[in-house]
Amino acid sequence: MISIKSDQEIELMRRANQIVRDTLNLLEEKIRVGMTTKELDKIAHDYIISQDAVPSFLGYEGYPASVCTSINEEVVHGIPSDRVIQDGDLVSVDCGSIYKGYNGDAARTYLVGNVSEEKRKLAEVTKQCFFEGIKVLKAGVRLGDLGHAIQSYAESFGYGVVRDLVGHGIGQDMHEDPEVPNYGKAGHGLRLRANMTIAIEPMINMGTERVLMLDDGWTIVTKDGKPSAHYENTVLITEDGVEILSL
Ligand code: MF3
Ligand code: CO
Repeated sequence: MISIKSDQEIELMRRANQIVRDTLNLLEEKIRVGMTTKELDKIAHDYIISQDAVPSFLGYEGYPASVCTSINEEVVHGIPSDRVIQDGDLVSVDCGSIYKGYNGDAARTYLVGNVSEEKRKLAEVTKQCFFEGIKVLKAGVRLGDLGHAIQSYAESFGYGVVRDLVGHGIGQDMHEDPEVPNYGKAGHGLRLRANMTIAIEPMINMGTERVLMLDDGWTIVTKDGKPSAHYENTVLITEDGVEILSL
């Protein structure tokens, strides 16, 4: 079942997503070479709590932290730890909050210190994948049109579009229907309607699209060990386009 949100629900989702946006902006300001990913997690946790919200990831299916921190060849769901951030790391941070029962979800990829030109390009293209996707979106457009826009942009740079993980509907639950793939066929798939809310989250690999899960049961890494980037926003579908709730 795909829920259509009421105006009051949308207002709460705006707030939940602003909190996520502000958390990610705070982390962007604070992130430094020499810091641990656990320190980032604590900053995020404390900030979300200070805004009368709840970190939605903490305890989600047993996940042990408030954000996911995924470095270089880690695609998503990296667990914050005592790992120290190094010069040249590509650090993807995914964050979610619940405000008065409604979810916000977004992710950014940060460039720390002197990042190589090829990693920089990957992060930039991954972010642009999101914007290429939303360019085609409005009520009546199909999920295949969105996936196709993202996929064709990423593949024009020779990058791999991760298939094993997808975006999602979002609302009272972090993960609602429908699934929102970053690949697809134009003119196919579910037709989006006004006041649906979805999280669009391209995960783009420098090399092959293939991924593996580490033994920790969470961290997803590229099969070829090449870097990956992630960028995500929650958006509201409107009659004439989208409203990005987490920017
Ligand atoms: N926020 C992720 C997503 O975009 C999910 C994180 S899983 C968790 O769908 F366990 F860390 F919460
Ligand atoms: Co998400």
